[in-house]
Amino acid sequence: MAKIYFDNAATSWPKPPGVRDALADYFGEAGGNPGRSGHRMSVDAARLLVTAREGLADLFNAGDPSRIVFTHNATHALNLALLGLLHTGDHVVTTSLEHNSVMRPLRHLETLGVELTSVACTPEGVLDVNDVARALRPNTRLLVTTHGSNVVGTLMPVGALARLSREQKIVYLVDASQTAGAIPIDVQDVDLDLLAFSGHKGLLGPTGTGGLYVREGIVLAPLMRGGTGSDSAYEIQPDFLPDAYESGTPNVAGIAGLAAGVRFLNEIGIETVKGHEQKLVTQFLAGASEIPGITLYGPRDAALHCGVVSFNVAGAMPSEVALILDESFEIMARSGLHCAPAAHRTLGTFPAGTLRFSFGWFNTSAEVQVALEALREVASWAANGREVAGTWTA
Ligand SMILES: Cc1ncc(COP(=O)(O)O)c(C=O)c1O
Repeated sequence: MAKIYFDNAATSWPKPPGVRDALADYFGEAGGNPGRSGHRMSVDAARLLVTAREGLADLFNAGDPSRIVFTHNATHALNLALLGLLHTGDHVVTTSLEHNSVMRPLRHLETLGVELTSVACTPEGVLDVNDVARALRPNTRLLVTTHGSNVVGTLMPVGALARLSREQKIVYLVDASQTAGAIPIDVQDVDLDLLAFSGHKGLLGPTGTGGLYVREGIVLAPLMRGGTGSDSAYEIQPDFLPDAYESGTPNVAGIAGLAAGVRFLNEIGIETVKGHEQKLVTQFLAGASEIPGITLYGPRDAALHCGVVSFNVAGAMPSEVALILDESFEIMARSGLHCAPAAHRTLGTFPAGTLRFSFGWFNTSAEVQVALEALREVASWAANGREVAGTWTA
């Protein structure tokens, strides 16, 4: 039986061949430290970064590529945005679906005197924009929301939230960890201020990659200061992008791989990727809703979803089901809280959490069918005294 990978929300697998080739090419050919030296291997490495930045700026319609800052992952990008923007006395509004990569920096900022309001989503994981509007205060500086929930897959109304933020003159930061590369994002059209993204999930790059789009006019305090290869006569951090926020040697190999992932996606078209993932979500939701003992969470309409679905099997812990799926069916899925405890409180699934399938471009309808049949067997096992021939030990 071929391995089925349904954990693309954690990191995508497999990576396109071009991504692997890009890493090999970097190590075999360019190999230098970008922007540090004048020799050709350093220049070639710098060119890889320029190409990657241009590819991402195109993908998000960011205009000036220097507004794309490379980071090690989305967590790094979110910390740069949150810690770089908020000060004692500021108020920040967020939602009850956020990942700990948003909530932990915010809880830390709260201890420094930043006021925090978390707007509750419905038990289906849906946010009402009016609730956000009601949460705003005169000192609200920032609204931060996910674009797609990593627990239930709900897509947030980012267009309406961006309009509200503009009207109220507050900064809007979107966490696109689950949507970059899978749902079209046009930062100018939607009018976003800050967009944090992972490079290693939907964008199909290697782990250790991510980034932050920073709209012109938004100034952040850097998280780190250090060598940038620019303005080297000065001991003061440069204030121009991207150097202001990119101190130290970057992950050139990873970023070259990320550029290859973006090229691969551009050839397919992000609308096509979105359509493919939503087709798999539709198939899964329809099939799973017919299996006795399965509870589905989140919206039933795939149009309101990124490629993430969450569910539970009556009579079994999500961790047990994940183990059985791995050991007996070679299906890789994630169980538990998915680093988003408030999301599970919202759904009513705290503390055990849920089982999550997260689909990607390389998943197929046949794989979803195999998983549905496996779940039917597991649900029946859990409902019938957990007796089964074979190897299940959970
Ligand atoms: C919604 C969301 N935000 C942030 C992150 C953190 O992403 P990274 O692992 O790239 O730091 C994740 C990762 O799963 C996520 O799903």
